[in-house]
Amino acid sequence: MHTRVHFHSSREQVRVPNVIALVGLPARGKTYISHKLCRYLNWIGIKTRAFNVGEYRRKACDFSNEGKSDFFNPQNLRAVKIRDECARLAMEDMGQYLENKEGEVAIFDATNTTRERRKWLVDFCKKEDRDPKFRIFFVESVCDDPEIINSNIAEVKISSPDYVGRMTEEQARDDFVRRIENYKSQYETLDEELDDELSFIRVINAGRSFYVHNVNGHVQSRVVYFLMNIHLLPRSIYLTRHGESEYNRIGRLGGDSPLSDNGLTYAQKLREYFEKENVPGDLRIWSSQKIRAAQTANHMKDLAAHVEYWKVLDEIDAGICEGLTYEDFQARYPKQFAERDKDKYHYRYPSGESYEDLVARLEPVIMELERQSNVLVVSHQAVLRCILAYFDNKNRSELPYLNVPLHTIIKLTPKAYSCEIEMFKFKIDAVDTYRAKPNEPVDNGNGNHSSLEWEYSNETTLCHSP
Ligand code: ATP
Ligand code: F6P
Repeated sequence: MHTRVHFHSSREQVRVPNVIALVGLPARGKTYISHKLCRYLNWIGIKTRAFNVGEYRRKACDFSNEGKSDFFNPQNLRAVKIRDECARLAMEDMGQYLENKEGEVAIFDATNTTRERRKWLVDFCKKEDRDPKFRIFFVESVCDDPEIINSNIAEVKISSPDYVGRMTEEQARDDFVRRIENYKSQYETLDEELDDELSFIRVINAGRSFYVHNVNGHVQSRVVYFLMNIHLLPRSIYLTRHGESEYNRIGRLGGDSPLSDNGLTYAQKLREYFEKENVPGDLRIWSSQKIRAAQTANHMKDLAAHVEYWKVLDEIDAGICEGLTYEDFQARYPKQFAERDKDKYHYRYPSGESYEDLVARLEPVIMELERQSNVLVVSHQAVLRCILAYFDNKNRSELPYLNVPLHTIIKLTPKAYSCEIEMFKFKIDAVDTYRAKPNEPVDNGNGNHSSLEWEYSNETTLCHSP
């Protein structure tokens, strides 16, 4: 007789989709946190979408007719009904998104400041039997530092679509402060005893301290670790490839060749750029261990507080294709070459790596970048594509085709809901190592920029999280 083994409940455990519900008064960084979490989880391969109840509200009603802060007064029963209905619609969309398996994690971005509202969410995530339909984790942002709150209001609230074009900045600020007061009147914070059954983290005063309770499962522990590493201090991250190398000049992949003469000129100019840039505070330089990157970074050694050489920043390992040109690769391994073109993100070089492998290898670098202040990363085309995709919120099909040209500095400056991206292209000849996706127009505006008129030119874009 066979013994029947039921794996059902453990498999279910692994597969249960996750809801992350924000909690907190207005201007406590809930939307900021949900954007950042969404970007991080998608980048590490956990498909995530944020549902912002404020957006449902703005679609449902014209704020100019709704009495501004009075709309958030708990005594205003008509408004309470509208707000509850918006939350219900967002919750239903979130449920469908998870049930249809469009993603594994949904972030419910609303104030969720009452215990009753949170119970409603918890009930929504329950199933009839003992297994949960969705596993829910609360992320509460608590902040009583008036400096942080005032700066948040100034940075994002007075320019919110709720106010722009409807009132002066002064009026918007006063109205927003009244909105906060309305929420305060019924705010119930998460409590270790009253909410003992729940899983949650309380982020206190923008990460000065944390309270973590009853963490359950892989996603929740990744979220906790991530939230404990991010900070709000202003800073910039600079990315650059090494200067042009001898292998670049002859179109060979990988290897460990030194800089060409053009590459050495770039290393010198890079130094001049940082002498002028006058980075406030300490600058850290992280270079790969490849000769071409170390040679580039070494030109700036005395300008930085720390120079470190990380193996984890070495270029993608092209395995059996190391040292070949793209033409050699296609001629010798035509099937492999075609497979790479079909799905470049997942394609793994025999005895080498894929872009997916690189993202996994680079996660500690991203976490460390989140923790640090100003950093210059001197690395390689594929590695920098992965790092740029994280900050620029690019998906897996875009990532392996991002354009990271030689002799260009990419300066990333995190903003409230976005990351400012500036590209400084130097007028120093370099070969173009970009290979476009076949049958697609060549997106190569930043490629071979040797014809530029300026010593360097600057392009700025603001990228927005979803
Ligand atoms: P609302 O309820 O009105 O939507 P919110 O809580 O979603 O407000 P955000 O719009 O996210 O607030 O506020 C963004 C600002 O919050 C940014 O300026 C960001 O620097 C700041 N911020 C980010 N994280 C935190 C935090 N943990 N505590 C306080 N402020 C934060
Ligand atoms: O050609 C320079 C280089 O850094 C190679 O060492 C590396 O294999 C390649 O770029 C990565 O770019 P792609 O993934 O587009 O082939």
